[in-house]
Amino acid sequence: MPSSLVCCLPFLRKEEKSSLATKPSSTATASKDQSEKQTQQSPVTPTTTITPSSSKLTKTTTTTETAEMTALPPHSRNVVLSGGARGVGRVVARNLLRNGHRVFLLDFDVPELEHCVSTHMPDAVEGLRDASPPRLGSAVCDLREPDSVRAAVRAAVDFFGDGHIDVLVNNAGIARAGWTGGRTMEDPSVMDEWRAYIDTNLTGPFVLTQSCLPYMKAEGSHPPQGPPEESFLSPEVKDRIKQQGERDAQLGPRQRGGCIVNISSFRATQSQADCEGYASTKAGLLGLNHAMAVSGARWGIRSNAILPGYIEVQHECRKGDESEMRWADTVEEERHRQHLTGRIGFGRDISDAVEWLMGANFVSGQEIVMDGGVSKIKHAAA
Ligand SMILES: NC(=O)c1ccc[n+]([C@@H]2O[C@H](COP(=O)([O-])OP(=O)(O)OC[C@H]3O[C@@H](n4cnc5c(N)ncnc54)[C@H](O)[C@@H]3O)[C@@H](O)[C@H]2O)c1
Repeated sequence: MPSSLVCCLPFLRKEEKSSLATKPSSTATASKDQSEKQTQQSPVTPTTTITPSSSKLTKTTTTTETAEMTALPPHSRNVVLSGGARGVGRVVARNLLRNGHRVFLLDFDVPELEHCVSTHMPDAVEGLRDASPPRLGSAVCDLREPDSVRAAVRAAVDFFGDGHIDVLVNNAGIARAGWTGGRTMEDPSVMDEWRAYIDTNLTGPFVLTQSCLPYMKAEGSHPPQGPPEESFLSPEVKDRIKQQGERDAQLGPRQRGGCIVNISSFRATQSQADCEGYASTKAGLLGLNHAMAVSGARWGIRSNAILPGYIEVQHECRKGDESEMRWADTVEEERHRQHLTGRIGFGRDISDAVEWLMGANFVSGQEIVMDGGVSKIKHAAA
């Protein structure tokens, strides 16, 4: 693996919990011995990388090599993105990399993450292999394990090397609407799956955001003093923004604070039968979004949510690459016709919105529905 791509080995749970359709079996099969050994150490071990040379993790720190570094574009941001091994997350990461950003991926699907980081991205993003400082890093991390999440964020901060996370995309999730096995909520056995939805789709983004916060705050911001109404933005940040006046737009991201993007779903506001776990957690994420927007304001941090509709990303994975599957191959014409836009969504639609939100400094606490207008069509019977 080239030095510009850094990947940490997995933190696996000592006891794998009851299997869920979304838990990749290959993660579970990664040596249990290794898993047990690693639980006694730091959950993410930056010196143990998929690349044979562990020294590559420190590549950006030596003087000689600093001289060889290519300048990053001025708009380049440090982005942490969960669930980036496949699907929507992979497309968002790819486009951010193509547009000059640095990206650190978190995922628990080891083979898919390895393929994404070692093969897919270097092939898809020009100059990534030789980029210095490295632009793509990753860590195996289970969002349902807070220790794993915290360790992965520490690995991300080490990777970026400048103490800043500018953008967090909470994308990973159990992306399946209904209960497995055709069950309904009446079946007591869905409880395990219910908890998995809550842990992955709701607690996961909360813990990941909590871990990233210290690195996302605006320069000069500090915990609020005095009554709550005084808590929005620290005095220093407020002053700086006032002084800048119309030049507010020119404030750098570090002066401004970071940006959180939460990937919810249009299922947060509408349901089909048997999607209680998915709908509840995606709706819960909207509550978390506006709460974090208000709480984060004191540190200059914005939080927004995207509610995707039907985004076709089945081909965005190792199998899809190997079989040269394309977006158009996977969808029936009928599905396209159901949308006001005449087509279902591309992963690119979501990545464009993420990038827009990264620069939309007057937007916080909001929800952007990206569903091709499908939710605006009145049903005949209604
Ligand atoms: N594709 C769509 O049509 C669509 C529509 C609405 C919302 N969304 C949302 O977009 C996001 C991505 O969806 P997708 O279609 O790409 O799904 P996907 O299943 O292809 O990708 C999800 C990724 O999250 C990872 N992940 C799942 N649980 C994890 C955990 N516990 N720890 C770490 N990583 C974990 C998976 O390994 C995978 O790489 C999800 O939050 C989903 O709910 C997708």
